[in-house]
Amino acid sequence: MHYSVPVSNKIHWIGVNDRRKRLFENLWPLERGVSYNSFLIVDEKTALVDTIDGTAVGNYIERIEQLLNGRPLDYLIVNHMEPDHSGEVKAIIDRFKGVKLVGNVKTFKIVEAYWGITEGLIDVEDGRTLDLGYHKLKFLMTPWVHWPETMMTYDTTDQILFTGDAFGSFGAFEGGIFDDELDPLYFEDEARRYYSNIVGKYSNMVQKAIAKLEGIPVRTIAPTHGPVWRSNPTIIMDWYNRWSRFEAAKGAVIIFASMYGNTEDIADYLARRLCENGVRNIRVFDVSKTHISYLISEIWKFNGLVLGSCAYNSQMFPLMEQLTHELLHIGLKSKHLALFGSYSWNGGGVKNLAKFAGESELNLVSEPLEIYGKPTPQKLKPFDTLAETLAHKILE
Ligand code: FEO
Repeated sequence: MHYSVPVSNKIHWIGVNDRRKRLFENLWPLERGVSYNSFLIVDEKTALVDTIDGTAVGNYIERIEQLLNGRPLDYLIVNHMEPDHSGEVKAIIDRFKGVKLVGNVKTFKIVEAYWGITEGLIDVEDGRTLDLGYHKLKFLMTPWVHWPETMMTYDTTDQILFTGDAFGSFGAFEGGIFDDELDPLYFEDEARRYYSNIVGKYSNMVQKAIAKLEGIPVRTIAPTHGPVWRSNPTIIMDWYNRWSRFEAAKGAVIIFASMYGNTEDIADYLARRLCENGVRNIRVFDVSKTHISYLISEIWKFNGLVLGSCAYNSQMFPLMEQLTHELLHIGLKSKHLALFGSYSWNGGGVKNLAKFAGESELNLVSEPLEIYGKPTPQKLKPFDTLAETLAHKILE
């Protein structure tokens, strides 16, 4: 990046876009890229709040030097140690001699494990403050959003909350950095995909963090990814609050695994019957075509979930198995669930989907249905009742 942007009096955004990385955490596609936000406070004392991913450096260090204009860097505040933010910590320590690392006891355990650093550390506990001159910072421990050491830094002067991953979003900046410089709704899908896949497993900890923020006046939310919310921070706070409570819109996501089209035919039949029963938001996906991260994001959005699998070597279809494994891993809750499938030998898809349902915290609305061979009007008849039952649950 070749620019820094003022956020507030003496505070500068000095982040970077990353459009090169194909997979975040080597796992999640980044079709719209991602930003790593870092902030430099040039006050009577100087402080850097988080760094960036070491693979997307560009002229990051040079921009810090320009803004410091010959002054030393006094503090590096590490809100989160995942390397997409701590990637430049070692480079900063090497370049700015005498800089003190500000974190908590859990941060420093990882700092030592990563770089063997054990000196020049300022250990802050919950509520500790750091006076930079004009800006007075306060540290809030918000563990597991999304690693154990995560904390937030609150600027009590300008009421800016540096939130780490909380309130973050996938999606590189395309000119606008602040919510009033872009269309917030353009970021909603990527924010939800980021939330559901990266942070969603820790939804109860997100709720605890949100509860902790109650009563704290916040004018600007400055997360480590995605837009900086200075005009309407309640938008992203409301999204995160809803998502971490598993609140969802009325609708059904139907995801099928089909080798030769029989299970897909059932999915289409169910979609039509749900529609006839009044459900208006219906999304149908082929598990073989759409990356699991998009599926999980759509699942998070609606209160109804329908999974269908053909049998594959007497098991579930492998990609459906991966999806159900991930749904168990992230602890998906509060969805009305229906299951179906088809088989040509002796089954296995639906049997294992039912096993998944039993292990999950989802509400299975009715017995799973399975068709032997090709669907026919007669074989599909029981699906009318299934659709009616599910539609009723979704719309109640
Ligand atoms: Fe953006 Fe958990 O790191």
